Amino acid sequence: KKVILSGVQPSGKLTLGNYIGAINNWVSLQEEYDCYYFIADLHAITVPQEAKNLRKNSIEAIAQYIASGLDPDKNTIFMQSHVSAHAELAWVLNSITYMGELNRMTQFKDKSKKNEANLNSALFTYPTLMAADILLYQADFVPVGEDQKQHLELARNLAQRFNKRYSETFKVPKPYIAKVGARVMSLQEPTKKMSKSDENENAYIGMVEEPDSILRKVKRAVTDSVGIVKYSDEQPGIKNLIDIYSKLSGKTTEEIEVMYEGKGYGEFKNDVAEVIIESLRPVREKYNDLLNNKDYLEKIYAQGADKAERAARKTLRKVYKKVGFIPRK
Ligand code: TYM
Repeated sequence: KKVILSGVQPSGKLTLGNYIGAINNWVSLQEEYDCYYFIADLHAITVPQEAKNLRKNSIEAIAQYIASGLDPDKNTIFMQSHVSAHAELAWVLNSITYMGELNRMTQFKDKSKKNEANLNSALFTYPTLMAADILLYQADFVPVGEDQKQHLELARNLAQRFNKRYSETFKVPKPYIAKVGARVMSLQEPTKKMSKSDENENAYIGMVEEPDSILRKVKRAVTDSVGIVKYSDEQPGIKNLIDIYSKLSGKTTEEIEVMYEGKGYGEFKNDVAEVIIESLRPVREKYNDLLNNKDYLEKIYAQGADKAERAARKTLRKVYKKVGFIPRK
């Protein structure tokens, strides 16, 4: 079986962007592939986190993975920090990553602008850790949203560089990015991506948000004064809502344009909200049940870590040998 790997940072509440761009696609891959899905808690501390919130967000993220339809018997679900090989391989990969390469990462540039007062070196080497996550499991495909493409390119380069410098060790992973919904935009600034760390709560919709709050946020979504429901770059707000509608309903963007010919934004927004609410309803209900069953969640991520650890150690052992570390015996 081919291997799939992906993760989400527990740096806030998971959003509709995470669901549409990533998690929802993972669900459709679980039958066919050997899938590893983890909570990227090591990544989360590259920006300041309150320990209490990090713990809460990590557990909640596991519950949201399962509530979205990931079957714990078919997928390996775990916390990144439970498998120490991630940090260990990242260190080795840091030794073949160029400063210039990391300097070019657009996410680093954006995030460092926002965190000028607390620019730490982990934020800079974050993409190397992400490469380690992927290469440890010899992943064939990495299902992510558009914003992770550059990081994946680095992972591919590092795999090839290591293989060339030492010998064939890593599978070179391919990004798996869906055509629709790979970039869900902010509801308040539709030229920016929807982000869980946005200060403005109206900019994003949570994966397990209550229906009335979803309706309110969609109604408030920034649009334009054109007044026509049209899929056009000149109308980024409307375009984003059409994308969301299309991805969640399976209707094409053209079908949606036709449906709302001659109709106002009010009716369109109500319908978008309803599609979101109904798509997320089963997720929220299952999520609420799961949160009452912490023992069950604990069991899942403990089993997941055991399984992930075995796979990861196998790769790390090879890497340590190739770079010249003495085996411990
Ligand atoms: P993160 O936590 O920012 O996002 C998790 C996943 O959701 C996708 N995504 C979006 N897709 C569409 N529209 C959006 N507005 C949107 N926002 C987020 C992301 O593309 C991602 O697929 N570095 C990663 C986490 C990570 C990882 C990995 C992923 C760590 N190691 C190894 C894959 C493989 C991140 O910060 O994702």
